Amino acid sequence: MAVLKVLRYGDPALRRRAAPVGEVTADIRARIADMTETMYGEVGIGLAAPQVGISLRLIVVADEEGRGVQALLNPAIVDRGGEATGEEGCLSIPGVFAPVTRAAWVTVEAQDVNGRPLAIRATGLRARVLQHEIDHLDGVLFIDRVDPVTRDRIKRKIKKEGLREDASRHAFAL
Ligand code: NI
Repeated sequence: MAVLKVLRYGDPALRRRAAPVGEVTADIRARIADMTETMYGEVGIGLAAPQVGISLRLIVVADEEGRGVQALLNPAIVDRGGEATGEEGCLSIPGVFAPVTRAAWVTVEAQDVNGRPLAIRATGLRARVLQHEIDHLDGVLFIDRVDPVTRDRIKRKIKKEGLREDASRHAFAL
C-alpha cells in the first residue's frame, strides 16, 4: 500500500469526468487499498479516485461509526430529497471551508469491491460525504456549489494567498 499524492485545486485532472470501473482487477483492488491509506493519512472521511489522479468512478468513504472504510464502485445517486446546509472542506482545496446546501438524504447504488451491487440510504453527514465524493467523479468541486458571492471570495483568496498546504488536517475534509 502507498499514500498517494492528493491533487490540488487548479489541477485539470480534478475537472475531468471519470470513466466507469469495469472488472474489479487486482490493480483496482491495489488502488482501493492505496486510496484508503491516503484517506487515513490525510485524516479525511472520504476520497474520490480523481483526487489522486485516477480517472475512474471509484470512491472510498468512512463508514458510519468511523471505524472502517467502504469502497464504492460506479456510485450513482438514484433518489434524493430534502435540503440541508453544512460546512464542507476538501482535501484538494486545503484550508477552505464553506457552507454547502445539498439534499438531506440520498439513495446511492454502487458495486462493492467484489463487483456485487449494493444500495445505501444515507442521511446527515454520510449523505453529504456521498454527494461530495460523487461530484468529484463528474469534475465538480464543493466550491462550485456555494453561493456566488462566497465562491468569488474563495477564488480571490486562493489567487492572492494560495492554498494552505498545512491545513488539510481537518476532520471534515472530503
Ligand atoms: Ni473533496
